[in-house]
Amino acid sequence: MPVSETSERVAKESPSSTQSTAGFTVPSTKEIIITIDGPAGTGKSTVARMLAQRLGLDFLDTGAMYRAAAAIMIDRGYTEDEIGELVSAVIGADLHFDWSQDPPTILAWDTPIDHRIRSDDVTQRVSFVATIPELRSHMVRKQRVIFAQHPRLVTEGRDQGSIAFPDAPVKFYLDADPKVRAERRIDQLGLNGDVSVDEMCERILERDRIDSSRSDGPLVCPDDAIVIDTSELSIDGVIDEMERVVRDRLDDL
Ligand code: DC
Repeated sequence: MPVSETSERVAKESPSSTQSTAGFTVPSTKEIIITIDGPAGTGKSTVARMLAQRLGLDFLDTGAMYRAAAAIMIDRGYTEDEIGELVSAVIGADLHFDWSQDPPTILAWDTPIDHRIRSDDVTQRVSFVATIPELRSHMVRKQRVIFAQHPRLVTEGRDQGSIAFPDAPVKFYLDADPKVRAERRIDQLGLNGDVSVDEMCERILERDRIDSSRSDGPLVCPDDAIVIDTSELSIDGVIDEMERVVRDRLDDL
């Protein structure tokens, strides 16, 4: 039986208590959501997590939710014709995060599945899963519940500023040269020597094509997002730039 979407667990000990290394944190009385969207390999996850740490906010990796759904599809043997069954299984799995971990880890049926979601087969399947409208609306509802429970949040994905949180006061869109993205992706997935840069480049361009052309929640750059090209920037350089933007915006909130 599907479990209520309001069942997202509340942190036992939230990483939001982490102190800023730069000495600047968002005042603890301020509610804020910062969205970071963009294609794979732009450094989004790393940057989002580190920005959250620096500002003393929680961090949500929405890609992990779609990856978890793809893992469920593979491990339970659903075919592409069994979308209704897959969506029911994902709802029943009550995907949620363990906020006592930094970064928070994802669970399905109360079992941690972090070890599974970065596997190559999951990465290959996730673009398909992310095209399913019923699944997307379920994930977006869950993300809004999570924000209600973690109202000081940095969230990263493909549709966070455009669909999930269109009123977010600070939106970023990260981009980078496809070859740089392919190299980063190989490193991130530990595939050095297994996959060539050219092959990975082809894979991520194909994934971009699927992510950008789906009818529901496509990867788009929101009009009001600040675009940062990370090809030539260090992670610290990107975060410094973001922190500066957030600091400026905070006065208006
Ligand atoms: O960021 P990532 O590689 O972990 O994302 C995995 C997949 O999930 C990717 O194909 C895009 C999709 N995704 C999405 O459609 N919407 C999101 N908010 C986050 C990820």
